[in-house]
Amino acid sequence: MENVLVVGANGQLGYDCLEVFKDYNVIGLDLPDIDITSMDSINAAVKKYKSDIIINCAAYTSVDAAESNVEIATAVNATGPENLAKVSSDMDVFLVHISTDYVFSGDRKLPEETIESDPTGPVSVYGKTKLAGEHGVAANTENYAILRTAWLYGTNGNNFLKTMKRLAVEDSERVIKVVSDQFGCPTLSRTLAKQIKEVVKNEATGLFHATGEGYCSWYEFAKTFLEMSHIPFSMEPCSTEEYPTPAKRPSNSILENKRLKDLNINVMVNWQDDLAEFIKLMEGK
Ligand SMILES: NC(=O)c1ccc[n+]([C@@H]2O[C@H](COP(=O)([O-])OP(=O)(O)OC[C@H]3O[C@@H](n4cnc5c(N)ncnc54)[C@H](OP(=O)(O)O)[C@@H]3O)[C@@H](O)[C@H]2O)c1
Repeated sequence: MENVLVVGANGQLGYDCLEVFKDYNVIGLDLPDIDITSMDSINAAVKKYKSDIIINCAAYTSVDAAESNVEIATAVNATGPENLAKVSSDMDVFLVHISTDYVFSGDRKLPEETIESDPTGPVSVYGKTKLAGEHGVAANTENYAILRTAWLYGTNGNNFLKTMKRLAVEDSERVIKVVSDQFGCPTLSRTLAKQIKEVVKNEATGLFHATGEGYCSWYEFAKTFLEMSHIPFSMEPCSTEEYPTPAKRPSNSILENKRLKDLNINVMVNWQDDLAEFIKLMEGK
């Protein structure tokens, strides 16, 4: 049985990869037991666990904080994947790396979809460092798969939906304002973990888009979630201008899972079905 090393195992996606890869010899590591900014640290882990496959879920994911923490964001999101690719190439390991819709500018006309071969053009530090990470992987190993995902949420850790639920439960009368002019594809981390497994099983290589099917705005996403959860709430749509953030965000982040579909290995589901699954998974928490 193949040995799988999940890096960034304490995060949203890392946690779900450990669940989904239970039928492999799977080991999960995170800081401080592995640090992807250090080649020595990666080398030691791969040797110790005789890894055949690495799934890199580790990243610096604070999009706004990255604007003022360029050095650490670059180390984790750009140098880290490059290091993992070098070790993977040396040790004959298959590397799965996760990237993001933020490698694109997101200024296409709505509702046009973006496919893998479309030109990149990140508008934030986070997006730029993640794009550099993609390049670092592709330049240093041949045996890799990069999955670009978006609007990721899961049961482990904090995310947008958990914040919406907390605000509504605290005070159902307080009006929650949510941005309604940014569109994207919400993606449940459990489903993405299943997609990663499909990619591994099929030894599919190269660059893939892997997001929930369909699209919505943040406003529609939050509203649908609270309605499906039967939680009373008051909500109003607002514009990006009304809700300024340090990092610029794409307004059209709609990705199409074209290559997964071309290879007939797309297991991503409609974003509403992912929401239903999330609500079910949260009940068990
Ligand atoms: N969240 C989203 O909406 C979203 C959207 C598109 C793409 N993605 C991508 O999807 C992947 C998974 O995201 P996620 O939301 O699951 O991330 P997450 O919950 O933030 O988890 C990332 C994990 O990586 C760890 N980490 C940070 N620096 C590290 C280092 N130097 N060495 C080893 N581990 C390190 C973090 O530890 P600490 O917490 O201690 O720092 C954390 O446990 C990432 O590649 C992310 O860029 C996420």
